[in-house]
Amino acid sequence: MEFRVTDTLRSDWTGETLAIGLFENELSLSGDLAQLDEKLAGTLQELIAETGFEGKAGHSASTRVGGNSPIRKVILIGLGKPEDLKLETLRVGAGNAARLAKSIKCETLGISLPVCETPAASTQAIVEGVELALYQDNRFKSELEEKGLKLEQVELLGLASTEAAVTHGQTVCSGVFLARELIAAPANTLNALTMAEIAESLAQDYGFELEILDQEDCAKLGMGAFLGVAQAAEIPPKFIHLIYKPEKAPRRRLAIVGKGLTFDSGGLNLKVGASSIEMMKTDMGGAAATFGAAKAVGQLKPDVEVHFISAVTENMISGRAMHPGDFLTASNGKTIEVNNTDAEGRLTLADALVFADKLGVDAIVDLATLTGACVVALGNDIAGLWSTSDNLAMELETAAQVTGEKLWRMPLEESYFEGLKAIHADMKNTGPRSGGAITAALFLKQFVKETPWAHLDIAGTVWADKDNGYKSTGATGFAVRMLVQWVLS
Ligand code: BES
Ligand code: MN
Ligand code: ZN
Repeated sequence: MEFRVTDTLRSDWTGETLAIGLFENELSLSGDLAQLDEKLAGTLQELIAETGFEGKAGHSASTRVGGNSPIRKVILIGLGKPEDLKLETLRVGAGNAARLAKSIKCETLGISLPVCETPAASTQAIVEGVELALYQDNRFKSELEEKGLKLEQVELLGLASTEAAVTHGQTVCSGVFLARELIAAPANTLNALTMAEIAESLAQDYGFELEILDQEDCAKLGMGAFLGVAQAAEIPPKFIHLIYKPEKAPRRRLAIVGKGLTFDSGGLNLKVGASSIEMMKTDMGGAAATFGAAKAVGQLKPDVEVHFISAVTENMISGRAMHPGDFLTASNGKTIEVNNTDAEGRLTLADALVFADKLGVDAIVDLATLTGACVVALGNDIAGLWSTSDNLAMELETAAQVTGEKLWRMPLEESYFEGLKAIHADMKNTGPRSGGAITAALFLKQFVKETPWAHLDIAGTVWADKDNGYKSTGATGFAVRMLVQWVLS
């Protein structure tokens, strides 16, 4: 997709399809819109009347323009109330316009949307909306669904001189695409070995330092919790540590840790009934977001050092599997009674967090498809956020607000740790059903000493069953954009 930014007026633009943003209070066209409507023989006003278009955010309408007008089709994009305009409105509107333009087989599209915040921020949001909405993963299809014309050029009107923001938006999207592709890839094509290969190619492409620890290395570091989970897998586990270092002394040093279960069968506490075992290829969504963020950061080259970490394996069953009730010792010496082998993510994260903590970074953020309880609490559009630092929580909330990804802060209610007390070990890995997402976060907290730390439970947001606009159906790539925004902030 080629983007051009121009200062051409929408009333002067010529091309195939023109998409115009309209606020709720702009429906009786005036000024340059009235002029444009005149050129189009009243098509705009007619379209508004005939479709009952009200200008609501997220709504759109389109039609052909007859005669020998300077454009062939128009799309109206609802913007809601002017005082409520957000970057997300531009992203959603641009995504809808791009999908419509594609469905009517248009090759060139002009987009006229108002500036929100700054021209550069607006351009980035529009580019993200278009790119993310049009993305299609055809890797596993034997035949392409769509043939013929493709949307090839998008022109952003009124946004001249924001070329850098176009590139920035496209770079961030390349990270989202990587995350979506990793998540969508099933466990028979993506495993710890292929994840390690992907880390190697990221390191090659962007000059990262790379450390890959195998089973033996992990054993030397005492990573008994991670290795307990990996015990029944035929495919050997890999502990992956990618490092981005800026050329000059870093302004900050950060670690991003992603849960990397390429498949979660539940182990001997096998996922049965309605527990969606067939969806558990998505259980490396945290690692996917981590790698996606790495891909973007490697290109954007901020003045921040970032460590991208994932303990990758699959949770399987065999004669060598962990027994429910086994005791494991994590790399910080703490002992864990595995009262449920399906609470495996927190076991792998325990050792990954201890590793990250030892790096002496300024902050650690982990991302994990950790609990069904978080999905029950917050649904599929909002991720849970737990943090030991109000400041770090605020940084992440601010980043998420910019990118239109939703977070909701949840409590680290210490009294609930009672539910994890074990008789003979330091703690159990599973508490009672109630408050299950909170006890999972409290469990993780045992493996971070002083470093400000935040945990994102993305079990609900990693995947969308229904169409979700530019956020896509299937793997969403959730959190990549906010992570990049956070690193750069
Ligand atoms: N990977 C799952 C969590 C999950 C559930 C992710 C639904 C995506 C969608 C995790 O490993 C798990 O099995 N969690 C258990 C914990 C329980 C045993 C305490 C759960 O949520 O049921
Ligand atoms: Mn599990
Ligand atoms: Zn899991």
